[in-house]
Amino acid sequence: MDLDLRSIKGIGPAMAEKLKSAGITSVAELAVIPARELSELIGISEEHAFKLTQAAREVLGLDFITAEEYYNRRSKLGHISTGCRALDELLGGGIETQAITEFVGEFGTGKTQICHQLAVMVQFPREKGGLSGRAVYIDTEGTFRPERIIQIAKYRGLDPKEALKNIFYARSYNSDHLLLLVDKVFNFAQSENVKLVIIDSLISHFRAEYLGREHLAPRQQKINMLIHKLQRMADIFNIAVVITNQVMAQPDVFFGNPSRPAGGNVVAHGATYRIWLRKAKEMRRIARIFDSPSHPEGEAVFRISDEGIVDV
Ligand code: GTP
Ligand code: MG
Repeated sequence: MDLDLRSIKGIGPAMAEKLKSAGITSVAELAVIPARELSELIGISEEHAFKLTQAAREVLGLDFITAEEYYNRRSKLGHISTGCRALDELLGGGIETQAITEFVGEFGTGKTQICHQLAVMVQFPREKGGLSGRAVYIDTEGTFRPERIIQIAKYRGLDPKEALKNIFYARSYNSDHLLLLVDKVFNFAQSENVKLVIIDSLISHFRAEYLGREHLAPRQQKINMLIHKLQRMADIFNIAVVITNQVMAQPDVFFGNPSRPAGGNVVAHGATYRIWLRKAKEMRRIARIFDSPSHPEGEAVFRISDEGIVDV
């Protein structure tokens, strides 16, 4: 999949350089960038941009496939265990590849802890709940702790040094940077055997940068673009994508749950599976799947401990 840009019809050395200097270094990236964005980025007509992106999609076989091919692709679905039996059961076997799984909850509900745990779990072979793969951890809030990875790995019997080596970490500083980092993952996901991409949190940059109602539309557009990139990445490379989301207060709700996930419809439609986390006594947490057509309603209880996420 690491094809050279110049294998695309209509891309010579000069155009390849132009694309590269704009940050598009692989066919996969070219295939998923919207034509309008590309046209603005490198100063070509939208029509020209469309031709290039279309050619890239053809090379990657991203257009029509037969239902049989789709079936074959689906049959490659993998699961990453959360390391907690109750949570795995709730999720139907763990976190799924080719899908975006969202964890949403108030501060301290364990979203970041689950991300750390999954970054370790994905490394195990299939029979032990992993995908013998590596993880990408994009940290927007600066809460990733390698020490925590070491702790979790030790408890699970994984060489902590190896566990750290198998996680590609990036701190993202704003929403543009976040999008750029996601684009970069397209370049090495395949060659580095990445099976899990984590964004903790998806929403924080957008909430900080786009204040006020007048910025809502561009904000949602950008989140939409990001989520689509993530879904394509998940599909093309058979990767599991995990995002975290925050809750926001709904001042107009008097009965029922007074908070809802941030990100509105765009995140609601973009995430394949949505899991709501809430606090219970001691370090217990309750997870519930919501908005899922394929999961039965139900809850799972887990505990946050020094060993990571565990059954109670
Ligand atoms: P926000 O990012 O603030 O929205 O919260 P979050 O949902 O990401 O919460 P997080 O995953 O950071 O969970 C925090 C909880 O995990 C806190 O109650 C911490 O005390 C607990 N925690 C974090 N690290 C450890 C640890 O090493 N040992 C134990 N026992 N608990 C920990
Ligand atoms: Mg967190």
